[in-house]
Amino acid sequence: MARKVFISAGGSGIGRCIAEAFLKQGDDVFVCDINQQSLQQFKQDYPQLQIAYCDLGQMNAIQPMFETAMQALGGLDILVNNTGISGPTVAADELSFEDWTQVLNLNLNSTFMMTKLAIPYLKQSNSGVIINLSSIAGRMGYPFRLAYSTSKWGIIGFTKTLSMELGAFDIRVNAVLPGAVDGERVQRVLQARADAMNISLEEVTQNALANQSLKQFVNPKHIADLCVFLASDSASSISGQILPIDGDKQRLT
Ligand SMILES: NC(=O)c1ccc[n+]([C@@H]2O[C@H](COP(=O)([O-])OP(=O)(O)OC[C@H]3O[C@@H](n4cnc5c(N)ncnc54)[C@H](O)[C@@H]3O)[C@@H](O)[C@H]2O)c1
Repeated sequence: MARKVFISAGGSGIGRCIAEAFLKQGDDVFVCDINQQSLQQFKQDYPQLQIAYCDLGQMNAIQPMFETAMQALGGLDILVNNTGISGPTVAADELSFEDWTQVLNLNLNSTFMMTKLAIPYLKQSNSGVIINLSSIAGRMGYPFRLAYSTSKWGIIGFTKTLSMELGAFDIRVNAVLPGAVDGERVQRVLQARADAMNISLEEVTQNALANQSLKQFVNPKHIADLCVFLASDSASSISGQILPIDGDKQRLT
């Protein structure tokens, strides 16, 4: 039977990949995002997808959007908290309070709001699932990304605690922690680094993968597959776990 799936910030990137994976399972999927263009593009590609515009940084915009989604889906089985911005790359004493607050607001406050609203619906499901996107920066220190790393470690405490609270209702809660994801963005960052250091793209790539057992960036489709597995009956004994998917990265710098 088709499950009812909600994915936050799912208009593009990893969120879109996760949404596509559930769509391919035949599930009913709803995504929200701040980017109208990527939402429209996604809907064009998958007409059965349900979409809503929402700036998740605006706490009072979340509830009306979420209630609309619950009406459209007719309930909820799976919540994927995918929202996350990285904020600026600066030293801690140069990080502005505004930037710090913006990152924590989006990465933690909106995730809390979404989850709080979702819990009553998940309690009605026979197999409620919450999947939270953390990051490798949620299990290691990440110099010059203080707000991001703090928020992603926060997602771990959020996951562990919710798993304990919600187990009695058969709701499972897990966190997925990707390393650097393959794609245009990582290639752009590496090329910029190569240009700045006046070395080849190959050398920069080798350096980036040096502290990692598997010499490859993460395929976003594999993150999506992991989410589909975590939401499946085969994972019905898995809750409260943090699942890195990062080629066994040992250090972030
Ligand atoms: N990309 C990576 O290498 C990586 C690695 C580890 C963890 N993650 C985590 O995975 C998740 C998805 O990452 P991504 O790289 O796909 O992100 P992304 O930067 O590609 O953004 C994903 C989506 O978020 C939307 N968005 C941004 N601000 C928003 C707002 N205020 N309201 C609503 N939507 C908003 C964007 O429009 C976009 O569609 C995040 O939680 C991120 O921290 C990513």
